[in-house]
Amino acid sequence: MSKYIGILTSGGDCPGLNAAIRGVGKAAQGLGMQVLGFRDGFRGLVENRTIPLDRAMLSGILTVGGTILGTSRDKPHRMPVGGKVIDATDIIVENYHKNHLDALVCIGGGGTQKNALHLKEQGLNVITLPKTIDNDVAMTDVTFGFDTALGIATEAIDRLHSTAHSHHRIVVVEIMGHRAGWLALGAGIAGGADVILIPEIPYDVESIAKGIRQRSRTGKPFSIVAVAEGALSKQDAIKVRAAEVKKEKARSKLEKKKAKTSLAELYAQHAGNTFRLSEQLEHLTHLESRVTILGYVQRGGTPSAVDRLLATRLGTACADLINEGTYGVMVAARGDGTKAVPLQEVAGKRKMVPAYHPWIESARHVGTSLGD
Ligand code: F6P
Repeated sequence: MSKYIGILTSGGDCPGLNAAIRGVGKAAQGLGMQVLGFRDGFRGLVENRTIPLDRAMLSGILTVGGTILGTSRDKPHRMPVGGKVIDATDIIVENYHKNHLDALVCIGGGGTQKNALHLKEQGLNVITLPKTIDNDVAMTDVTFGFDTALGIATEAIDRLHSTAHSHHRIVVVEIMGHRAGWLALGAGIAGGADVILIPEIPYDVESIAKGIRQRSRTGKPFSIVAVAEGALSKQDAIKVRAAEVKKEKARSKLEKKKAKTSLAELYAQHAGNTFRLSEQLEHLTHLESRVTILGYVQRGGTPSAVDRLLATRLGTACADLINEGTYGVMVAARGDGTKAVPLQEVAGKRKMVPAYHPWIESARHVGTSLGD
């Protein structure tokens, strides 16, 4: 009996999603399965908006950015529908069976792993692939999308160097990564940034300014500051940590809601932090400072060869796992191979840059300031 599988992409888009859809789809078809796509993440599953992923649909998409299926950040259990937020889990279960699915492949980041676990707990055969430019999914060596974004952000830093140098300016470049510093750290090292600020290492603006003034005195009156969007000053990090602890300790529904709101408020206040940092540095160093926010350019466009390879590797391994009946797992990258990791071990966790990660040591060895 041939198997029917569904595929969806969920969360922010990234390069390599189509390569993964193609990898799963072509390998599954080779194993005699039929493949159906759902549009716009879990929303397409709720609204039963499908697209048959036949051979023609899977052809010519390897190098294409974004996702041919569309994506959304909708969650099965908290979905805005007609002005209300509903728990759409039962509708998803119903549509899964209506489409005679034997398995559902969810391609996404940290949030998707949680949503997939929720659906697994409803009895669906779910299997996931880890994607995101942030590289913050737990239990996998790496996520696809990261390498492409790393290349884009590094090239941006290269370009900012010549303009910063010519104008004797500080350029503060904001790099994505959500609450993790992988992208800023990687691109900062590869692009030779003078200062790299990541969420894992709270910074002290005085100490950054001191380093920049010192560079200036030694004949280098320009500096590149690569700042992760989630980087926090030492003072802000204390406030955020306190709010996180409150959230972890909250027991009642009301306490949990309050703690969540105050954490969200802190993060909302954090918006615009890169501009504030630039102003502070200008004030403390007497050098002109400019901000560049790289933004969505980091997520767009054709995937790098490394991401195409990774997405194809994970996608084809996913089809093999479905073929042998292994579900409830994320297909993680491990060395040159793959590993099926139970969703319970992935969901709700975030892979942060460890304090003594080799990249951190290397950055310090070449004299880069990490702002601490
Ligand atoms: O997770 C990928 C990411 O691009 C993060 O780096 C960034 O914080 C976030 O998504 C932006 O999300 P949105 O697409 O909702 O604006």
